[in-house]
Amino acid sequence: MNKQDTFLEMMDFRHACKIFDTRQKISNEDMHYILDVGRKSPSSFGMEAWKFLVITNDGVREKLKPFCWNQPQITTCSHLVVVLAGIDALKVESGVVQSQLMRRNLPQEKLDAFIKLYASHLSDTLSSDEKIYQWSARQTYIASANMMNAAAFIGIDSCPIEGFEKENVAKVLELDTRKYQVALLLPFGYRVNTQSKQFRSRFEDVIEFIQ
Ligand SMILES: Cc1cc2nc3c(=O)[nH]c(=O)nc-3n(C[C@H](O)[C@H](O)[C@H](O)COP(=O)(O)O)c2cc1C
Repeated sequence: MNKQDTFLEMMDFRHACKIFDTRQKISNEDMHYILDVGRKSPSSFGMEAWKFLVITNDGVREKLKPFCWNQPQITTCSHLVVVLAGIDALKVESGVVQSQLMRRNLPQEKLDAFIKLYASHLSDTLSSDEKIYQWSARQTYIASANMMNAAAFIGIDSCPIEGFEKENVAKVLELDTRKYQVALLLPFGYRVNTQSKQFRSRFEDVIEFIQ
């Protein structure tokens, strides 16, 4: 099979799995692979302002379920990944921005110029925690897509879940929401039912070439 077909096969395997087989658990090795793909994902200015909470504890998942529209994926999956969007770390005054940039071994004047650019480009985005969350969460979705595709590549199912009560989920997880807020829930596991039919718009309806 050529590379294009291999990739498309993975895309066709992935679907929003509604119920997982509670008897089948993902191996540590496979879970590590999926999470590592998330870790390697691109982020704006290379800030990596995210965290992936991996929940296998049944009690915690039972507590979360009512705040996730009672969706069965929460308790039937093998591993529930709660994708957190960083808030404080994206503020210049946190010092994290500087330390992330310092990994690049830039000379001091370049580092200062970069931080100035960061602060001025993002002055509106950084003006409130809510705006930071909107920006930060968008980036976690890229990591989330990568993790779902990596899972599908090795025959593991997933479902992106936005149907949850953000504040209540944060309370159950005892999050310090000045540092992290919940962006998305990602259950991983193995399907019970056969895959649902894939509905997609036609290529020509969603793609336009400007030449
Ligand atoms: C951001 C986002 C949030 C979603 N939230 C939920 C959800 O809460 N529960 C659910 O069952 N599916 C959820 N889905 C799955 C979509 O309904 C699903 O991806 C879409 O209908 C296409 O189906 P497919 O992924 O099976 O191809 C979500 C998808 C995305 C991208």
